[in-house]
Amino acid sequence: MPRATTPLEIEIQARLAMGPVPAADVMALALYHPRDGYYRRDTGPWGFEGKDYYTALDLGPLLGEALALRLEAAWERLARPAEFTVLEAGAGRGWLGRDILHAAAGPFAESLRYIHRDDNPAAKKAAEMALEPFLITGRARFMKESEAIEPFVGAALSNELFDALPAQPWRWDGAAWAREVLTQDGPKWHAHHEPRSAAWFESQGDGIEPGDGSAWCEALPVLASTLTQALRAGLFITIDYGDQASHLLAKGADLRRFKGHTVDGRWWEEVGECDLTADVDFTRLSSILETSGLTEVDHQSLSRWVRAHAPLAAWEAEWQELETPARVQRMENLLQLTMPGMMGERFRVLEGWRAGG
Ligand SMILES: C[S@@+](CC[C@H](N)C(=O)[O-])C[C@H]1O[C@@H](n2cnc3c(N)ncnc32)[C@H](O)[C@@H]1O
Repeated sequence: MPRATTPLEIEIQARLAMGPVPAADVMALALYHPRDGYYRRDTGPWGFEGKDYYTALDLGPLLGEALALRLEAAWERLARPAEFTVLEAGAGRGWLGRDILHAAAGPFAESLRYIHRDDNPAAKKAAEMALEPFLITGRARFMKESEAIEPFVGAALSNELFDALPAQPWRWDGAAWAREVLTQDGPKWHAHHEPRSAAWFESQGDGIEPGDGSAWCEALPVLASTLTQALRAGLFITIDYGDQASHLLAKGADLRRFKGHTVDGRWWEEVGECDLTADVDFTRLSSILETSGLTEVDHQSLSRWVRAHAPLAAWEAEWQELETPARVQRMENLLQLTMPGMMGERFRVLEGWRAGG
């Protein structure tokens, strides 16, 4: 290990001196250390200028435009409430909120209120700019993660939130479960028994083979329930990397590291300097939402969701009116969201409904 210089590195070295540190604890520190965490810096060498990664929002406004229509349909289904709140957890730069607020029209736009919930300081600065016109008119506001969420009618929304929660890789070695840890000599797999994750993995699929494994996100139920409990009536909608539990198990567990547009599994390197993510277990998230009382819980690829919910024919007609560069940009945005092998196939959209009443 190189000599520790930052408070984050010093903390990790102090933990290592006491014994192996589970990968999930390293991920928690790497992303959320109060001073040096990737998502807790005032400024940082990270993603949003296209440095480490990009999200669907960097590709253009079409995801926000499709979501605005989906949210309007939810507003209609709830019999047009006077106030329809969209709470976005993990809202980052606020670009999705901006695109939705820009796209909303008519009486729906008058009812729409947007709440940005994310303590990421650098992203919040960007969100203050992106949301400025809506902050001024009171149609958007910020909420701290520590603030209790008042019950609301509308939608709980997130994009790439759950993949940013600390997750622990597990692997079945043929006789026992092993978890990935960081030691003074680098990463290792250590046999360990943790009944809840083991029981969940073993309940999925048709039997576990040696080498199978997945990532277990401890915080998933707490965060998902916090959001669903506050949603008195309306739509839960989340967009993220991931798959159903049996597919993730067969694929094997890993954490992904994004650094300068390259992706690898070296989560223990340059801690705090890189983005770390884990696939979301959509089977587990669905079951948590159903336990919280949501109905119609279902997930599908982003590409299928866009083709089902976006008004493609109307868009195509509108785009004919645009100048060539703007038309090409929209076409590219649509292809990224729908073509095989692109973002639309790697991401899933999960929806659930609370009828209220
Ligand atoms: C991968 S970024 C996604 C940002 C944005 N949604 C986008 O698509 O560009 C994940 C964000 O989730 C935030 N986050 C993590 N845990 C959170 C929580 N419990 N509540 C709200 N935000 C959270 C992080 O601060 C970070 O900004």
